[in-house]
Amino acid sequence: MTDAPNPREELERLRAEIHRHNYLYHVLDRPEIEDAEYDALFRRLVALEAKHPEWITPDSPTQRVGAAPADVLAAAAHGVPMLSLDNAFSEDELRAFDERMRTLLNQDAIRYVAEPKLDGLSVELVYVNGRLALGSTRGDGLTGEDVTANLRTIHTVPLRLRSEGGLPPARLEVRGEVYIEKAAFDRLNRRREADGLEPYANPRNLAAGSLRQLDSRVTAERSLRMYCYDVGRTEGIRFESQVELLTVLPSFGLPVNPIYAVCETFDDVAAFYHRIQSLRESLPYETDGIVVKIDRFDLRRAAGFASRSPRWAIAGKFPAEQGVTRLVDIQVSVGRTGVLTPVAVLEPIRVRGVEITSATLHNEDEIRDKEIRIGDRVIVQRAGDVIPQIVGPVPGERTGAERPFVMPKTCPVCRSPVVRLEGEAAHRCLNTACPARIRQSVLHFVSRGALDVERLGPKLVDQLVDRGLVSRPGDVFRLDRDTLIGLDRMGPKSSDALVAALEAAKTVSLARLLYGLGIPEVGAQTATTLASHYGTLERLAEASQSDLMAVPEVGPRTSEAIVDFFANEENRRTMAELLEVGLRIEASAPTSPTAQGPLAGKRFVFTGTLASMTRDEAERRATAQGGVVVDSVSSKTDYVVAGADPGSKEKKARDLGITILSEEEFLALLSRHE
Ligand code: IVH
Repeated sequence: MTDAPNPREELERLRAEIHRHNYLYHVLDRPEIEDAEYDALFRRLVALEAKHPEWITPDSPTQRVGAAPADVLAAAAHGVPMLSLDNAFSEDELRAFDERMRTLLNQDAIRYVAEPKLDGLSVELVYVNGRLALGSTRGDGLTGEDVTANLRTIHTVPLRLRSEGGLPPARLEVRGEVYIEKAAFDRLNRRREADGLEPYANPRNLAAGSLRQLDSRVTAERSLRMYCYDVGRTEGIRFESQVELLTVLPSFGLPVNPIYAVCETFDDVAAFYHRIQSLRESLPYETDGIVVKIDRFDLRRAAGFASRSPRWAIAGKFPAEQGVTRLVDIQVSVGRTGVLTPVAVLEPIRVRGVEITSATLHNEDEIRDKEIRIGDRVIVQRAGDVIPQIVGPVPGERTGAERPFVMPKTCPVCRSPVVRLEGEAAHRCLNTACPARIRQSVLHFVSRGALDVERLGPKLVDQLVDRGLVSRPGDVFRLDRDTLIGLDRMGPKSSDALVAALEAAKTVSLARLLYGLGIPEVGAQTATTLASHYGTLERLAEASQSDLMAVPEVGPRTSEAIVDFFANEENRRTMAELLEVGLRIEASAPTSPTAQGPLAGKRFVFTGTLASMTRDEAERRATAQGGVVVDSVSSKTDYVVAGADPGSKEKKARDLGITILSEEEFLALLSRHE
């Protein structure tokens, strides 16, 4: 980079290089450089642009971070209407669709393309001469909202189309679904709940809420993704079939869901419908069915449109996953931040293979809005990945014995008054000495992602808090053998072991400590990012909000929460106490906070192509649970995950007698723990 003749050329070269690495990473899933090298290129570009702001163009890779808030979203008309789909609710109804099409088009058999139906929000991207000129929501189908600034923050959305050895098409309107992965959805909702905010009911609401933000910096924090599946108006390029479209779009750098099926007969359609249904739980995104489309565009034109949907396509929805059971009671639990959460106690019921015995009701408003009473027969469903949800009471099944729920006026644990702060849906216990709050903060502090003191479980923490032995995180390090021996079920041996475990836990990475402190908005991932960015607690504590905003993944809300946290007297005291009792913070984080998962230390080798996720994603999910991904098979390998067309690694694994997992088995292993 030092040999660049002038900064302008260097800047252009950096941009091209970064665009290429984005494509390799996000679309092909074949990165050629390490994250650190990428970061260095990126930082170099940021520095150059800071010196020459007049050279910043909207398609620069630095411009994904989000723009200043807009007042309203402008209207954006669609060149070709964005239609919705007709639904089929069973294999029979899908078969009836095929029969209709064959009669209408006078064909013996029709080739279809079947894709998972993503539960997100459909959008249109308009590329003019290869540059992203406009991005809009579907709206009423004819006119949507201009959400260009927000779509630009999605890393899989190219700002420029790739066009190897030629000009990009003059115009390409491409449509697809913006969605959020289940894991990210759950993470965000947990954070919102901890903050006393209303959780999103489903990934679609979240995608819609995030895309329709006036402040794109908020969108940038939401880990949205996009898959393309259709085109609108095009100039300088023509598609004649869905298969062609799904093959050509990726060559422009546009992401396409790798899972789809080319179906020569209806049996293939039925097989795909059942396959996706059985894979459903293990897919990283929510899907509520499949979409079946005629492949050939000339046949599509012949089939035409009904009023609001094309005749040539249909959504094959999966059967509902609801059940009815009795709401036995509503109990109130108090969280780390003092938020009171009403929790439904249910007569056990199985929904989609999982037994449900309780469900959060979030807050008082929700219970009132849904008109739920204790004793009601209620409809239960599983939203998102696993979160059970109460849809509402079954009308007409009341006996008169049901009673309404009232939020207690005092904390169920410490009896101090409960308040509802302005603008919040949550009720809170404000007593920082409330035993429930202490218990939850201490449990969080020693949890697996934080200081990881396994021997300090809920029962023991209860005793310690009840006896007043622990009232702040630092207190756990003051526990000695004699004190511990006096507790229930603690002999000399277990007391010694706990003292040793605490001593070991005193040396902690900054990332784990940050996570353990329970800073609002800072989960394990953000904690890791902050730790590697700032290196020391002192530097982070001194960072200003604008400093923090420059850190990847840190947006306005997170940065504000961090600044507030370090400004708070109580929190400063906690940190001072921790240092006083001998906590040693390792400057760099050798392991991420989550690297201690249930698959901790298990060595994985991947070979062949996976159908339901990219290699990168598979590796990330394995490492997120503590797995270690290695390149070659040896006797130390624990699992070889074999996708389609596995190479010699699978043979070697067989020779060495190492467990070989199919994709389904791998997903099952992950979902057992995720
Ligand atoms: S094709 C004219 N393919 O489902 C039909 N739609 O209920 C164009 N959707 O508005 C849509 N995944 O938001 C198509 N693979 C997929 C899809 C998909 C999700 C959504 C889309 C559409 C809605 C219709």
